[in-house]
Amino acid sequence: MGFGTRAVHSGEEPDFEGTGDVAVPIHLSATFARRAAEKPTRGLEYSRTGNPTRLALERRLASLENAEHALAFSSGMAAETTLMLSVLSKGDHVVAENDLYGGTVRLFERTLKRFGVDFTYVDSRKDEAIRAALRPNTKAVWLESPTNPLMHVCDIGAISKVARGAGAITVVDNTFASPYLQNPLDLGATVAVHSTTKYIGGHSDVVGGAVMTSESELYESVKFNQNALGAVPSPFDCFLILRGSKTLHLRMKRHSESATAVAEFLSRHPKFSAVHYPGLRGHPQYSLAKKQMRLPGGMLSAEMRGGLPAVRKFLAGLRLFSVAESLGGVESLVEHPATMTHASVPKSRREKLGIGDGLVRFSVGVEDPQDLLADLKSALR
Ligand SMILES: Cc1ncc(COP(=O)(O)O)c(C=O)c1O
Repeated sequence: MGFGTRAVHSGEEPDFEGTGDVAVPIHLSATFARRAAEKPTRGLEYSRTGNPTRLALERRLASLENAEHALAFSSGMAAETTLMLSVLSKGDHVVAENDLYGGTVRLFERTLKRFGVDFTYVDSRKDEAIRAALRPNTKAVWLESPTNPLMHVCDIGAISKVARGAGAITVVDNTFASPYLQNPLDLGATVAVHSTTKYIGGHSDVVGGAVMTSESELYESVKFNQNALGAVPSPFDCFLILRGSKTLHLRMKRHSESATAVAEFLSRHPKFSAVHYPGLRGHPQYSLAKKQMRLPGGMLSAEMRGGLPAVRKFLAGLRLFSVAESLGGVESLVEHPATMTHASVPKSRREKLGIGDGLVRFSVGVEDPQDLLADLKSALR
């Protein structure tokens, strides 16, 4: 079945044994009664371990990523933490892209390092950099593509092959692309992780995360730790994410169309010296992005001339684009990585990566594109 059909139906087939609900109800029960001690009703015991609304969401998420299995979490960071605690032990090593979401770097550097895990950061646009960083104790290669905020694109298939050859799994944080634009498992990766807070939920009204894989042993281990660590989403959160995911394919088309219009506008504007968007022909990995992604997506960043003072004036002049962290919702957002999402990255590291004071990141929503362009023009004036 096509993506749109699965987005609407998978995991939410009418339950004719119950009341035939077309939309899965919000099952608020914390525990489930059984007729006999050894016979849980429909396998359900306790809502941390399993809940009908969450199970519906997990079936939907697996289907959207073409995965055998999916697990839902209370946030993207909860998904990442549970995955890494399932995969890593003291003395292990991870190779990671160097332009990662700041919260992921914080988890690696400030939390997991304390348990004796070592990390090497590389530019994953160069497959040979990954190969050179692999060690006998490397257990995972962690990628984002496109990256946040510089929109670098790496070759997920080629890197997954190198990692597999070295006995390491490949994890792709697929939050920026969403499962509609890119399916890492189809390209050879072992695991896809998502902040479902972003495109999958799509309405900036819920925080959630997910892990998807087709490797059953890994799934069982993450599922064990999902229950052991307990960072599960509430039934209401699961309902919101299920509901949002039904229109993912429609929203991603509009996000991509409008972001392309914004990227083209900014790349012609004299106040910007560069625009980072995989849908622009000038993007260094334009052909790879075209091969790997269905559409270029709703995220882009641009370098403003005049540094922080110019950025401040520009942000203050915007009306439709709200100045806010996060991304992937129906409403357009704009943020300044150096003082917002990446403020915790030391200035020297930021500058080395190319995240300067003039960089502005846009999450282009699904409003009418002409209104978005008018807002940008007016703020730039
Ligand atoms: C790429 C990426 N991965 C993971 C996360 C973490 O997700 P959450 O905020 O849902 O914990 C974020 C949050 O901004 C993100 O942008």
